[in-house]
Amino acid sequence: MIKIMVSLGERSYPIYITTDYTELGKCISSARLKGKAVLITDKNVDRHQGDECIEALKMSGLEVTKFVIEAGERNKNLDTVKEIYTFLIREKLDRQSTLIALGGGVVGDITGFAAATFLRGINFVQVPTSLLAQADSSVGGKVGVDLEGSKNIVGAFYQPKLVYINVNTLKTLPRREMVSGMAEVIKHGIIRDPDFLEYIEYNTNRIFSFEPDILQLMAKTNCLIKGNIVEQDEKESDLRAILNFGHTIGHAVETVSGFELLHGECVSLGMIGAFKLAQHLQMVNEDTVKRVIRILDNVGLPTRLEGIDADKVYSQMFHDKKIKDSKLVFVLPKAIGEVIQCTIEDEELIKKVLAELGK
Ligand code: GLY
Repeated sequence: MIKIMVSLGERSYPIYITTDYTELGKCISSARLKGKAVLITDKNVDRHQGDECIEALKMSGLEVTKFVIEAGERNKNLDTVKEIYTFLIREKLDRQSTLIALGGGVVGDITGFAAATFLRGINFVQVPTSLLAQADSSVGGKVGVDLEGSKNIVGAFYQPKLVYINVNTLKTLPRREMVSGMAEVIKHGIIRDPDFLEYIEYNTNRIFSFEPDILQLMAKTNCLIKGNIVEQDEKESDLRAILNFGHTIGHAVETVSGFELLHGECVSLGMIGAFKLAQHLQMVNEDTVKRVIRILDNVGLPTRLEGIDADKVYSQMFHDKKIKDSKLVFVLPKAIGEVIQCTIEDEELIKKVLAELGK
């Protein structure tokens, strides 16, 4: 089992990376979590992994019950949070209790938000099962829900007590979801680590053959890159914003698509949009843009914005948390492994790039 730490003073926590659930109970015990726990999962994950995870948790000495929510981003809202609160009240959870998120990004974000707010904060454990969650959302403490068509608009920074990654859960994912998660993996290479991007480029087949060593190394590198950024800027006052690479356009596309497109699919389009903007601003050359498009295409991510109204995407971008003084903030590449934040006020340029994305 691989163990890495996210160092945040008294909020520091371990991330365990392994290939099954056998050591989950032991890892929870070593975090000294006691008393009642509620495992929150969704219907899809529950079918494949709910029982196995509950069995493993029983080894920790926690008294565990389970609450199953509907799957999908459409349910990441305050109605679902209310259902969770009602269950926690019925189960008589107290301040020593723990919520365990077993699932993808939606389950992790919503469970974390419930943990951050129930009784003004109870323990929280992440057991991410999707690639998106293992590569990105389970690490760093961003939790929240969508409201009024704005993604993650209500939320908190609330760090888990531990993250337990079983990479073999990726085998249970629909291929489209696995492909979608690759967008955040590729993002990490682009923003911080050219060698990692190259590694992904040359090992795509082995990733999709679910070779355990490759998956564990990929998980470790993702968590090290993300953990390092979070350690330097937990609350996104500056550096952490680079993790939003591809998300300014990506979030808007996601909302305008009515969540028909998956998060990673939208981030893929958003990253290409950012590269095209950077190319127009003469920050990167055409070969670099083509290479990135090829890498995204090779893993099966969309590289063209089809059937979506570019004007709507443009307007939707102004409903994002990343807006500063009513101006759009983009994270743009200077080279593979190096990005910077820029405010772009040139409406024509942004619209031109959105139109190019459709071609
Ligand atoms: N997913 C971006 C972040 O955690 O900051």
